[in-house]
Amino acid sequence: PVKRVTGETVAERLTENARERILPARYLLKDEQGEVVETPAELFERVATAVAAVEEEHGNDADRWAERFEELMTHLEFVPNSPTLMNAGTELGQLSACFVISPDDDLGDIFDVARQAAEIFQSGGGVGYSFSALRPKGDVVQETGGIASGPVSFMSVYDQMCETIKAGGKRRGAQMGMLRADHPDVGRFCVAKREEGRLENFNLSVAATREFYEAVQDDEEYTLYNPRTGEPHEVTEWTARFYNESYAETDPDIVEENVWRDYADEIPGIEAYRGDLLTEGEEMTLPARFVWRLMVDGAWRNGEPGLFLLDQANAEHSFDVDAYPDHRIEATNPCGEQPLEDYEACNLGHVNLSLCVADDPPHWDDFRERWDGDAEAGDDLDAAVDAFLDEAVDFDRLDRIARLGTRFLDDVVTASDFPLDEIEETVGRLRKVGLGVMGFAELLVQLGVRYGSDASVEVARQLMARIDHVATQTSHDLAAERGVFPAWEESKYADPTAHPEWFRRHTGEDPAEWEDGYPIRNHGLTSIAPTGTTSMIADTSAGCEPLYDVVYFKNVGRDVQGAEPLVEFDDYFLRVLEANDVDVEAVRNEALSLLESGAYDGPSSLPIPDELADLFPRARDVDMADHVRVQAAFQEHVDGAVSKTVNVAHDADRERIADAYHLAADLACKGVTVYRSGSRSGQVLSTEPEG
Ligand code: CDP
Repeated sequence: PVKRVTGETVAERLTENARERILPARYLLKDEQGEVVETPAELFERVATAVAAVEEEHGNDADRWAERFEELMTHLEFVPNSPTLMNAGTELGQLSACFVISPDDDLGDIFDVARQAAEIFQSGGGVGYSFSALRPKGDVVQETGGIASGPVSFMSVYDQMCETIKAGGKRRGAQMGMLRADHPDVGRFCVAKREEGRLENFNLSVAATREFYEAVQDDEEYTLYNPRTGEPHEVTEWTARFYNESYAETDPDIVEENVWRDYADEIPGIEAYRGDLLTEGEEMTLPARFVWRLMVDGAWRNGEPGLFLLDQANAEHSFDVDAYPDHRIEATNPCGEQPLEDYEACNLGHVNLSLCVADDPPHWDDFRERWDGDAEAGDDLDAAVDAFLDEAVDFDRLDRIARLGTRFLDDVVTASDFPLDEIEETVGRLRKVGLGVMGFAELLVQLGVRYGSDASVEVARQLMARIDHVATQTSHDLAAERGVFPAWEESKYADPTAHPEWFRRHTGEDPAEWEDGYPIRNHGLTSIAPTGTTSMIADTSAGCEPLYDVVYFKNVGRDVQGAEPLVEFDDYFLRVLEANDVDVEAVRNEALSLLESGAYDGPSSLPIPDELADLFPRARDVDMADHVRVQAAFQEHVDGAVSKTVNVAHDADRERIADAYHLAADLACKGVTVYRSGSRSGQVLSTEPEG
C-alpha cells in the first residue's frame, strides 16, 4: 500500500525545510546585502549551465547538455555534492567536497598545509590529512636541538584553524585526521578525543596496516616505526612516558599524559598489559591488542577513533602501489568515502534511488512466494533478487541517471577551480569522481524489502554493480571522445591481464579481451557519501543508510536553523500515511508532543497501524552485523569507499564494537565507523530534546 511520487517539478517536490531553510541559508546566491537573489529552479539552471560549458571544449552542444543536466537535477534524480551546488557559475568555482593534503615532517609544510586547508574550507570542501609522516613526540629536532611536539599537538593547531574559519566559510569545515597504527604516537592518537571538547573539528581514524591487524588477530607484538628515519623507533623517554606504567607515579606536571595514570581504570582488558611496555633505547614494539583495546574503547566511549583498513584500500586502488609507490594512499576525506592520494580531490554526485522504482512494483514477500512456488526457479537468493529487481526497478531510468551523472561529474573535474596548483595538477592527472546513491532505504520500503535482511544485502550488491558498470562504460565512452586520464599508463587499466579479478569486478569485462589496456577517462568512479545535506534537499533517505527515524531533531548549524534544531519528518513516511488514509496532521502533532516531552520512541509509539510502523525500521533497529553486511555489499562494486555508520545500542559492550571491526575486515570493507547510541552529547541527529 505504498504510494510513490515521481515526475513533479522541483517547486512542488521540495520540502518546506529545503525550500525555506536549507537552500536560502547555504545554496541560493545572495547579493552584497545578503538578500537571496535566486530561486531553487535558477540554482539548478546555474549549475547545469556552468558544468555543461565544458562540453563545448569537446565539440559538443553545451546548451543541449545543460538542458539535460538541469532536468536531471530539477527532478532530483541526481544531486551533486554541496560545493558544486554552491559554487558552480560563481567566482569561487571550487566544486569538490573531498580533499586529502598531508603535511610533511617539516614545520614550514605543516603550516602551509594549514593555510591550504583554510582555503578549502572557505569553499565548502572537507580535508583529510595523514599525520603519519610527522616524527613522534619527543623525537629530536636537529635545527633547534629541541624536541618534537608530535602529530597530536599539531592536530590541535589545525583544529583551532578550522574552528576559526568556521564563521566565515560556507559551512562548518570537516576534517579527518589519520595516523598509521605503526606510528609511535598511535596511543596518544587513540585517546586524543577522549575528553569531550578536544579536537572537535576532527574525525579520527587509525590507519591499520595488514601487519598490525594480523598481530591483533594472532595476539602478537608488532613494530612501530619512526617516520623521520623509516627505521623501527628507538624508544625515547617521551615515548616511554606515555606507555610505561612506572611513569604513572611521576609528578603530573612532568608527565602530561600517561595512559596508566589517566585512563587505565576505565579501559577493560588493559590490565593484561600492566607494567612497563617499553625499554628506553630499544626498538619499539607493542602488543597489538593493547593498541586495539585503546581504539575499541575510544570508539565505544564516543565513536572515535574509527578504523581505516589502509592496506585493503591500497590493494583495491586503481594503481599497483608496489610498482608505483607515489600513488600510495594514506588517508581518506572527512567522512571516509574517498581514499585519496596526497593532493587529490574528488567531486561527488548521487543517484536518487528512491525514484528508480518501476510502476506498480511487486512486493518482495509476494514475489518470493510466487518464486518459491515455481518448481524450476530454485532457492538461490541471488537469482530471486535478480528476477525481482527486473520487475521492481526502472532500470532505464537508473541507467540514464547513472550515465548522465557520470558525464556531469567528469565535466565538473574540468570546470572546477582549485585553490592550489598541486591539487589542480593531481586532479587533472587522475580525474577521479564519486558517483554514489541516496534514497536506498526509501527504495527498500517501496519494494517491501526490510533494511538489513539477506534480500536487502543482495539488492544493494546488484544495484551498485549496475551503477558501477554503467559508470565504467560511460567513462570508457568518454575516453573515446576525450582521451584517457593522463596517468592511465601507470594504472591497472593499462594492464588488465595483470589484475584480472580486480578488472573484472570493476568493469564487468573479460581481461583477455583488453590485453592492450582498457581506455577509461577517470581512475575512480564510484563512492557512497553520507549526503547529509543533499539528501535533505532531495527529500530522501541519506546515502546507503537506513532511516535514522521517521521524525527527529537535526542539528545543521545556526545559519540554517536558528537557535532550535530542525524537526525533520521523513516526508516519505508522511506520504505513505496519507496514501493509507491516516490522519497525518494528528500523527504530526502527536510526534511533536512526544518529542518535546522526550517520550518519543520510534514509529511504533505513534498512533498508526503496526504494519505501517514496521515498514520503517530505524538505524538502531538494524542489527550491527547487518549494517556491516550492507556496507560490504555496496563496497564490492565501489572504487572509492562507503560512508556508513554502524549503529549499536547504548548498552552494547566493547566486544560488540570489536566484532563489528573484525566483521568489516573479513568482508573486505575499507574502513568502519561504529556509533553507540547516545554516546556523544550534541548528536547531529537525535530524538531527545537538548539539555
Ligand atoms: O550532502 P553534502 O554534499 O553536503 O555532503 P555529504 O555527502 O554529507 O559529505 C560529503 C563530503 O563533503 C564529506 O566527506 C566531506 O569531505 C565534505 N563535507 C564538508 O567538508 N563539510 C561538511 N560540513 C560536510 C561535508
